[in-house]
Amino acid sequence: MPLEWSGSSPELLLALDRASAEPLRCQLERQVRDAIRCGRLRVGERLPSSRELARTLGISRGLIQECYAQLQAEGYLATRTGSATRVAAGAAPPAPAAPAPPAPEPARLIADFRPGVPDLGSFPMADWLWAVREAGRAIPTAALDYGDPAGATPLREVLAGYLRRVRAAAAEPDRIVVCSGHAQGLVLAFGALARAGVRTVAYEDPGGPRSTEAAAAWAGLDAVPVPVDEDGVDVRALAATGARAVVVTPAHQWPTGVVMAPRRRLELIAWAADRDAVIIEDDYDAEFRYDREPVGALQGLAADRVVSIGTVSKSLAPALRLGWLLAPPSLAAAILEHKLLSDRGSPALDQLALARLIESGRYDRHLRRMRPVYAARRAALLAALAEHAPGVRLTGLDAGFHAVAHLGLPGGEAALVAAARARGVGLHGMSMCRADGGDTPVQLVLGFGNTGERAVRAGIAAVGDLLAPR
Ligand SMILES: Cc1ncc(COP(=O)(O)O)c(C=O)c1O
Repeated sequence: MPLEWSGSSPELLLALDRASAEPLRCQLERQVRDAIRCGRLRVGERLPSSRELARTLGISRGLIQECYAQLQAEGYLATRTGSATRVAAGAAPPAPAAPAPPAPEPARLIADFRPGVPDLGSFPMADWLWAVREAGRAIPTAALDYGDPAGATPLREVLAGYLRRVRAAAAEPDRIVVCSGHAQGLVLAFGALARAGVRTVAYEDPGGPRSTEAAAAWAGLDAVPVPVDEDGVDVRALAATGARAVVVTPAHQWPTGVVMAPRRRLELIAWAADRDAVIIEDDYDAEFRYDREPVGALQGLAADRVVSIGTVSKSLAPALRLGWLLAPPSLAAAILEHKLLSDRGSPALDQLALARLIESGRYDRHLRRMRPVYAARRAALLAALAEHAPGVRLTGLDAGFHAVAHLGLPGGEAALVAAARARGVGLHGMSMCRADGGDTPVQLVLGFGNTGERAVRAGIAAVGDLLAPR
């Protein structure tokens, strides 16, 4: 599609050589012709107005008009009275090989139980736009310069207060580094650990083996899985690995949903103190709790041993790419240097908008609004399974917007997922979360964040017999 310019004249790179024996008009014609022939200018694309181009090139407008008239006569340009001069249809060579046709749209699913996505349709767009406008209105001109790579001070101050208030974290603004979500936070933490001489990092199994191993490998670290039981990560097994760092999800274990038991938290902290090790806390899903009292962040219990990473990917939307990291003093300098080298800091306006969203109370209001929405979907999932697949047990329902379904099948996760898809239902198996990729026992990670109640009911009704064959 040709580039459309809504207002002012488009710019065009042309270089006239005033020392050349070739007259300026000939140079101009040749360069525009070449630009069209080689595809720099495509059919339908607008050329600068003669007035604008004359001004840019420092030559008379008449010369430009003569050039355009000549190229029009040759069939390269087309002009209609009252409208801009454009590249004429048929003037340019055939467009470069068309990109491969897009893969056919997958048939619309009745329901997709993909975990890890919040309700995208509930993103508080009006509040966000309000916050962006507020941030833009109040931003001092100097704040448009390169800023502190740790993040905009107003956001770090607001986040510190928020994390102290809601997560009982030991949060001070100078300990916070704003980053592009959990993904960047993890890479920054791994990089700092590698520079501190750590060689092996452990992670929970089941968990996110593929992404954790890949991020560790980039930092030059070995990654080893450690099992999770009903109280959280198995600290004895962790100790046996010799790792000096571990990534955990204490608030709501990904994907089992286990909340790390108080005693296990203390054991983990004792392990870290004993081994001079670091705990990387993925403090995700803490915002949405249902039946239980919220648990605080592990970081609040051992600020010198824990890197705590938070994100708005679940509470607002993944597309914002905003998160934060609370760094212990031993790693703070390396994390900050890595952040500076990576991107010189996250986008300032977005940071200031998030600060306004939180301090205005609109962020809390959004979370309050969303809790009953997710709770209703969770109830719909429980009811639908009870009706259509009564043998299936659900666990991990205390928080967040996914649950684990235990199917009691002998195996065959891939076939089950394929059969469900053929019926228009997206299911996601536990094998993706297991370090060995195994599919037994057969379990599903059922996300209901971005799947409405009606879709939850219809989706489960469509595959109930597959989940619990009678
Ligand atoms: C366990 C876990 N933590 C955190 C996140 C959020 O990551 P990010 O902030 O990079 O979007 C995800 C994303 O799916 C996740 O699976």
